[in-house]
Amino acid sequence: MEKSILIGPFAQLLPMSNLPLKGSLKDSELPIIENGGLLISEGKIEKIGVFEDLISSEVEVHHIEGQHVCLPGFVDAHTHICFGGSRARDYALRNAGVSYLEIAKAGGGIWDTVTQTRKASQSELEAGIITRSETHLKNGITTIEVKSGYGLSVDEELKMLRAIKSANDKTSVDLVTTCLAAHIKPKDWQGEGSYLDEIITKLFPVLKSEGLTNRVDAFIEDSAFSATEIEPYFAKAKEMGFDITVHADQFTTSGSEVAVKFGAISADHLEASTEKEIQLLANSKVIATALPGASLGLGCDFTPARKLLDAGGALAIASDHNPGSAPMGDLLTQASILGTFEKLSNTEILAGITFRAAAALNLSDRGSLYPGMQADFVLFPTNNYQEITYHQGQLKPSSVWKAGKNVFESN
Ligand code: NIG
Ligand code: FE
Repeated sequence: MEKSILIGPFAQLLPMSNLPLKGSLKDSELPIIENGGLLISEGKIEKIGVFEDLISSEVEVHHIEGQHVCLPGFVDAHTHICFGGSRARDYALRNAGVSYLEIAKAGGGIWDTVTQTRKASQSELEAGIITRSETHLKNGITTIEVKSGYGLSVDEELKMLRAIKSANDKTSVDLVTTCLAAHIKPKDWQGEGSYLDEIITKLFPVLKSEGLTNRVDAFIEDSAFSATEIEPYFAKAKEMGFDITVHADQFTTSGSEVAVKFGAISADHLEASTEKEIQLLANSKVIATALPGASLGLGCDFTPARKLLDAGGALAIASDHNPGSAPMGDLLTQASILGTFEKLSNTEILAGITFRAAAALNLSDRGSLYPGMQADFVLFPTNNYQEITYHQGQLKPSSVWKAGKNVFESN
């Protein structure tokens, strides 16, 4: 049997464990192990503790030079990084005063990316996903959720989902696939029944038979699907055992109610959520996922993160990286900026991109560092964790580790 590997010492090891899934968090509650070490065996955490205490003849020591803060690898629980083309023109139009919804009504927006994504081959899409994933990995992200939703026909959605699946085999980041066939109504739909009927009957079974995803998403919005229209789609998804996640309350409310009704794992966006939706979410098991990248990309309000936490909700923070509303795609920068506007503690920000984000993907094997968890972690070149959000994404990781292996080292 191979020896366990001891990695460290770390000036501060933040295991992000023993913290509640829901509600506000003070920095005084944040567990910190000074001069910490991680004992790893077969890609998993065997033990955590003070580095010196973990040294023995049984272990192989991997000494880390310099001062570092060690955190669980970040989880980006909501992205659309499978796409073709660019929407730089939309961005300029929005800044000239045309709204996101007006652009969409005029045939641009998401439909523009659908057109460009349909023109791309599966291998071109796969290459784009790998390039974007590698950039995220260098920023400390070891798990990325990736949605379809720019195909909007059975075959084109399958092309996207297969591209995500094959990209996952070719990158060290773990990609979690989600079917977003209900992103908007395809403008070219010509089938017999409704588009959603076709998705339910022809696409859902293939998702199962090819093992493409166990997650289903929909965009509930005036310009996409109403709460009533989406019922059969989510009812069937639930019956077939898919986890449900919802694009909710981005511009108008009703998505949160759908999320709670269908027992969704997460409700994402929530920029328009009012006190009613905040209470509804906080009193449910649904994780509320803020997407500050979309607020920054559109110039809109942020998700009421402070109110959600104070009401007792579980808050994850994700990048929403996509070519339209959130082209920046830098999770740590966005989470840090959300923190300044919403007055979040460092612990709330870091929880939002680690264990609370893992919970938004229904993953219990990552997001914190304790025995049995996957050994996914990131090191920052500092001896004080507060420096990480303080630099708003400009303090970059010195190294990133996936399942105990060093997958990125900065020069
Ligand atoms: O999460 N809101 C809907 N969907 C994406 C945007 C996709 C796009 O604009 O291309 C979002 O913001
Ligand atoms: Fe999104």
